[in-house]
Amino acid sequence: DTPLRERAADKGLIYGAAAQHQVLTTNVEFAQRFAQECAMLVPANELKWQALRPTPERFDFSRSDWMANFAQRHNMLLRGHTLVWHRALPKWFEETVDRTNAAKVLTEHINTVVQHYAGNIHSWDVVNEAIVPNKTKDGLRQTPWLRLLGVDYIEMAFRTAAAADPQALLVYNDNNLEYDNAKTAVKRTQVLKLLERLKSRGVPVHALGIQSHIGASPQGFNAKKLRDFLKEVASLDLKILITEMDVLEKNLLEANNRDAIIAGVYQDYLSLVLDEPAVNTVITWGLSDRYTWLTNFAPRQDGAPIRPLPLDAQLERKLAWNAIASAF
Ligand code: XIL
Repeated sequence: DTPLRERAADKGLIYGAAAQHQVLTTNVEFAQRFAQECAMLVPANELKWQALRPTPERFDFSRSDWMANFAQRHNMLLRGHTLVWHRALPKWFEETVDRTNAAKVLTEHINTVVQHYAGNIHSWDVVNEAIVPNKTKDGLRQTPWLRLLGVDYIEMAFRTAAAADPQALLVYNDNNLEYDNAKTAVKRTQVLKLLERLKSRGVPVHALGIQSHIGASPQGFNAKKLRDFLKEVASLDLKILITEMDVLEKNLLEANNRDAIIAGVYQDYLSLVLDEPAVNTVITWGLSDRYTWLTNFAPRQDGAPIRPLPLDAQLERKLAWNAIASAF
């Protein structure tokens, strides 16, 4: 059967997935299946500060370089995740970075990392998860970066990244934009405001990444509101990427047809968002149920293995795979 990467390409779309160095280097069969199905590779952790910055002085590109090379060998695009995040900061960060050096530390990191992959990378998640609904006036999350640099840290990050690689697509990436509830409504407004403000100041932001860790929950999404949101983003002259899709099953404990329900979520969500022409990339946060972060992050209460991704633990295509294929 035609792999997802070709099905997507036939529609002018990119399909890819996140993966970990440890898995790609040790499971040959998985690595082969990954290259068959995916046109894009996202290092799941290897480009985060914690992975790249063992000490304040050093950059360790060994794992991410191996992955960049793997992507190139298999004719896959590479996507960078992530330059600015409140999580996955190294231990030394807190002890070493203060208001006097924060701007220098941030711009040096972005310069070094983005220049390292310049010309060889499709896109960067420049800033990840900067908005939390209701927490502060603009919805800006209280992060080390906000505390050290004030609201301008976002603009600084995008401008630095653009200068370091004028070709990469620069993405603002965030979660909890998919559902239909009060918090999401606030968050969508705040994300739109942020993007509008950046655009109006001439900041080089090119796309919104919508993570899409979606719960197979009854509350679900509202087609009209989601479409309207995507349209508003697109009207700012921004592309939209689905950057981290998987389907959580915490509400499916009783269901005996959970694969079908999970596939239904993929089908409904992807056909809805792909109606918007600005959406041109779909990435799942992993490819096989054997390697999913949700095993730790959102396990089932009954301890049964979860099945959030297109391939099962034996690397066989399952209903979720069919659903993605038919949504393209
Ligand atoms: C996750 C990784 O998959 C895990 O291996 C790691 O332990 C924690 O981070 N949103 C993001 C990703 O932007 O960086 C997260 O990745 C998943 C949620």
